Amino acid sequence: MKVIHLSAECYPVAKVGGLGDVVGALPKYLCQAGVDASVVMPFYDRKFTQENSFKVVHQAPLLLGNRPISYDILKESTNKLGFELYLIRIPGLLDRVEVYGHSDETEQFVAFQIAFLDWLISSGIKPDILHCHDHHTGLVPFLVSHSARYKELAMIPTICTIHNGQYQGSFEWDKLVYLPEVDLTKGGLLDWGGRINPLASSVKCCWKFTTVSQSYLKELSLYSNGLEYLFAAERDKGVGIINGIDTDVWNPQTDTMIVKQYAARTVGKGKETNKAALCAEFGLNADKPLVSFIGRLVGEKGADLLYDIIVRSLDKHKGELNFMVLGSGEPEIERALASIRDNYSGSYNVMIGYNEALSHRIYAASDFLIMPSRVEPCGLNQLYSMRYGTLPVVRSTGGLKDTVIDFESEGGYGVSFDDAGVESACTAVDRSVALFANTAKINTLRKKIMALDFSWDQSANQYIDLYTSLIS
Ligand code: ADP
Ligand code: GLC
Repeated sequence: MKVIHLSAECYPVAKVGGLGDVVGALPKYLCQAGVDASVVMPFYDRKFTQENSFKVVHQAPLLLGNRPISYDILKESTNKLGFELYLIRIPGLLDRVEVYGHSDETEQFVAFQIAFLDWLISSGIKPDILHCHDHHTGLVPFLVSHSARYKELAMIPTICTIHNGQYQGSFEWDKLVYLPEVDLTKGGLLDWGGRINPLASSVKCCWKFTTVSQSYLKELSLYSNGLEYLFAAERDKGVGIINGIDTDVWNPQTDTMIVKQYAARTVGKGKETNKAALCAEFGLNADKPLVSFIGRLVGEKGADLLYDIIVRSLDKHKGELNFMVLGSGEPEIERALASIRDNYSGSYNVMIGYNEALSHRIYAASDFLIMPSRVEPCGLNQLYSMRYGTLPVVRSTGGLKDTVIDFESEGGYGVSFDDAGVESACTAVDRSVALFANTAKINTLRKKIMALDFSWDQSANQYIDLYTSLIS
């Protein structure tokens, strides 16, 4: 079975968030299970592309509207990621450092998708499944079904995985000229609210869509940035499959980015050493509980609540608690979080920016990881934190609801709260501080979460079942 994953991100080539982690791992586990899975993504000008060797397997021109463009398809020479990796290089459009945030994002991702489909047609490659991720690849199901140029691909089943329904990539209809000739009687399949909406179009035109947790599938019909009605109408096409984690990359026993490796058996000592090092680095008190936040500083993650959560909690538990934040995002949230660094020095620090190695050190060093998310389709941070024996403190929504059970409920192991607000989050912090004082309990819970299995094995099998059902 040949499956091509099409994505804007793939770790370690380019990662902005969890999409990169998933596309860097799922194909590897699919290959291990006997699927011929590969990844096609844009060629960015980043460390991975500078330091690795690639073979040009195809070169051709294309027209984006009336703008002539040339593209190359490069294949990573060694398959070192555990699957075949293809990069589409479009000089002046895709070969940039930053993945997102460009004013010509529509042109970038439309050109990426057209180059991909043109390549399939001209090379005669016929996968059994086209697996698209998020809105950046959302036009593919429409194009293979309703553009004469790609009619040879029309019978290939398409799957769209929705990692985040908040971002839809919509653009004005006057950019329709970028698309190759399409059947305009089917134009409604591109539209949502009077704009071309790639995410909506992918949901309408794909054979099946998946969401990265079961709870998120339900939530999309209630809250999805304007697509609620669409998700309710297409509900039968949706399948919720929880993400796994790459246990080769996220393994406290072998992780070379952390100060001291440890297993569940040695978590007490291991965490103590990692915590001491992190606290020394950031001027925190290693004897007191450490609650951390890692992530994009945006409203979706409840990052705008962090300032109040931190101030109130540190005022209440004076000298008895530490907070550490690593993230970047909305400038006003960054400013607010940086502004209190001096007031709470000794018990609070923040690192604004993206730092993969520091994130590993924080997962290993922390006692708790807080996620006050308003929306969380799956969430990987809580899964990584549990693998490192760090108790997740989460707002019960989406994937957080599906993966974290409160320690006071039957079979529980984390701390969860229902409302996305400062009050509830602070109560959860209070409960965490009290829990930390119970050393025996905390040690038991650490061992328990480290033994939970959030590896890809099970979820990869669910994708294989889905692929098989569509092929047969
Ligand atoms: P999302 O994809 O919505 O950002 P996820 O929880 O799925 O959320 O994944 C976030 C991923 O990005 C995790 O691997 C997390 O460790 C990582 N991450 C987020 N922000 C940072 C940062 N500032 N530095 C390093 N890693 C980060
Ligand atoms: C998205 C979601 C996050 C999820 C990730 C990977 O970025 O916001 O919850 O874990 O995709 O699927």
